[in-house]
Formats: sequence, structure tokens, C-alpha cells
Amino acid sequence: MGSEGETVCVTGAAGFIGSWLVMRLLESGYTVRATVRDPENLKKVKHLIDLPKASTHLTLWKADLNEEGSFDEAIKGCTGVFHVATPMDFESKDPENEVIKPTINGVLSIMKACVNAKTVRRLVFTSSAGTVNVEEHIKPVYDENCWTDVEFVRKKKMTGWMYFVSKTLAEQAAWKFAKENNLDFISIIPPLVVGPFIMSSMPPSLITGLSPITGNEAHYSIIKQGQFVHLDDLVNSHIYLYENPKAEGRYICSRTEATIHDIAKLLRENFPEYNVPTKFEGIDDNLEIVSFSSKKLTDLGFEFKYNLEEMFVGAVETCRAKGLLPAAGENNVTGTKKD
Ligand SMILES: NC(=O)c1ccc[n+]([C@@H]2O[C@H](COP(=O)([O-])OP(=O)(O)OC[C@H]3O[C@@H](n4cnc5c(N)ncnc54)[C@H](OP(=O)(O)O)[C@@H]3O)[C@@H](O)[C@H]2O)c1
Repeated sequence: MGSEGETVCVTGAAGFIGSWLVMRLLESGYTVRATVRDPENLKKVKHLIDLPKASTHLTLWKADLNEEGSFDEAIKGCTGVFHVATPMDFESKDPENEVIKPTINGVLSIMKACVNAKTVRRLVFTSSAGTVNVEEHIKPVYDENCWTDVEFVRKKKMTGWMYFVSKTLAEQAAWKFAKENNLDFISIIPPLVVGPFIMSSMPPSLITGLSPITGNEAHYSIIKQGQFVHLDDLVNSHIYLYENPKAEGRYICSRTEATIHDIAKLLRENFPEYNVPTKFEGIDDNLEIVSFSSKKLTDLGFEFKYNLEEMFVGAVETCRAKGLLPAAGENNVTGTKKD
């Protein structure tokens, strides 16, 4: 598989991961069809339009996961599709209809579009660690054979429960469809993605990742015993797996694991002005590490470039530059502006 002259579609292209992926695909010589829900909303798409090569190699397409067939036109004629879009609203009042259904129906609608187009060689799906390890008894190590316990999630209703259910059921439905329709399908499983970014509002994963700074306690449970990957490494793994003819199945893409205490220490050392606490209510001082094995990905030849410090320093610096976190010397650390 090669890049020059290839046209690929990226769904959720204006988001945190989607926009960085579009940027790297353009740099690699691809022509990109970027789907967004509202191409007229400059606040949401300006960072895409401003990308180098956008004027010649990028087009914006309107598409919504809630509408069957919505992605057909954008996908027709493409050789590859990166399905990145997903509803991320952890505070949804109607999680079944606003999060779970569109995630499952959306991936199936996109898969049908890929089959009908007859030009798509491979579909790459951005899955989530939330499909792998959300269960009652946490194991020390997870790999691609592990699946989240959906019944446990529905019972427990922890922060983000509807997202974990939506991604797990969507990926399982996608594997079934791919096998039945002989579609070349790859899923990539990132843990929490952290790093510098180009979108203009606060990325959902940084609301979680930077919660030790902002004091957003509802998100502590997600990073209590977390795993992390830099946005650039994750995006490069998408392109790597799309291009590698030997790639097949699920791939965990996790660089490292850390507890909330490790994250807090790293933030305190790099940004003492935020007064990040040393203790978190209801969270033990001694926590076991939970790791995600990326062996399958690295055995294929993929190399990670960034460490935990680069992820968090890059994220904080970008948030400051965009006015999403106060700079040194300013107060109001909870000012995480969100659209
Ligand atoms: N960030 C992480 O830590 C992380 C970790 C694991 C997995 N992931 C996965 O990575 C993917 C991207 O996440 P992200 O962090 O980039 O989040 P994000 O910034 O919220 O991007 C998600 C995008 O999905 C689009 N979207 C939401 N609802 C939609 C709908 N009904 N129809 C069409 N598009 C819709 C949004 O598009 P609009 O621009 O049109 O609003 C948004 O740009 C998701 O599949 C997520 O599950 C992320």
C-alpha cells in the first residue's frame, strides 16, 4: 500500500485525533476527505482548512453517525477509510440514543458504504481501551484477546460507562460484519491519548488527563491505574497499520502505564504553579500498575517515539497557548473552556 495519489476518508476529522491524523496524512501525500457534522462551522473546521496542503488535497464532507447512509458519498472512490468519529458525551441525558446507538449503527453504516464502494482496500477503526479492561476484577496485564464486561459496566454505571458500552458493542458488531462481508478491517485500541493538538477547544481526553490540575474528581477513576499514548504515536500507528499489508485484527497502541500519583508527580515537577495535590480523596496511596501490551504492534515493526513526560508537557503547553488552561501566574485553574 502506498500514499501518493491515494484518496482516503477520515471520519470525526475535526476532533482531537482526527485532525492530527488528517495533518499527518496530508504530509504523507494522501488526498483526504474529512467528514465533519457541520462543515460551515468555522470554529470547528478552521484548523483543518489552515493545514499545509489543505487547499489542494483536503475536502470537507458533511456526515452524521445518526443518519444511515450519511458517509456513502464521502467514502465512494476512496482506497482507505479511517473511522475515528464517536459521540464522547459522558454527561448525556439519553445515553442509549445519543451515544450507544449512533456508535454501533454508525460503524455498521460506514462498513456498508465501504463494501458498496468496492474501492476501499482497508477500514481502520479507532477503538478504545474501554473495550478491553472494564471489568470487576482488574488484571495486571491486558492484550488484544481481552474484552470489557458490558453487563458489569451497565450495572456499575461509572464515569464514562455509556462510552465503554458503545465502543465495545460497536467493535464487536464491526468484527461480525467484517467477517460476514470479507472486509479488510483493523481496529486500533488506544488508552488515554495525551499530547499537543490542533483543535481549538478542550479535547475530551485532556479533561480526563489533566484532571489532577483542574480538580475534576469524576475523572480520577479513569487515570487511577491508567495507560497512555502520545497523540502523534497513535496517529502514526494508524497510518502504519493502514499501509502494512501484514496487519490484521486488533492492535493495542499503548506506550506506557502510570498511576494517578505518577501523573500528579510529573505535573507537580513540570508545573509547580498548578499546586497539583499529592493525595486524592478515596484513592489509595499504593496502587498496582495495570498494563496494556503493545507487543503485537511492536512485533510488526512499529516504534513509539514519545514518553509520558512529552505527552503531558505537550498537552499542558498547547492548552496554555490556546487559553484552555491558565498560564503560570494566573489563577482559575478550573477554567477548562469547552465548546
Ligand atoms: N482521546 C482519547 O484518549 C481516546 C482514547 C481511546 C479511544 N479514542 C477514540 O478515538 C476517537 C476520536 O476521539 P477524540 O479523542 O478525537 O474525540 P473528539 O475530539 O471528541 O472527536 C470525536 C469526533 O467525533 C465526531 N462525532 C461525534 N458524534 C458524531 C456523530 N453523531 N456523527 C458524526 N461525527 C460525530 C465529532 O465530530 P464534529 O467535529 O462533527 O463534532 C468529533 O470531532 C474516538 O473513536 C474515541 O473512541 C480516543
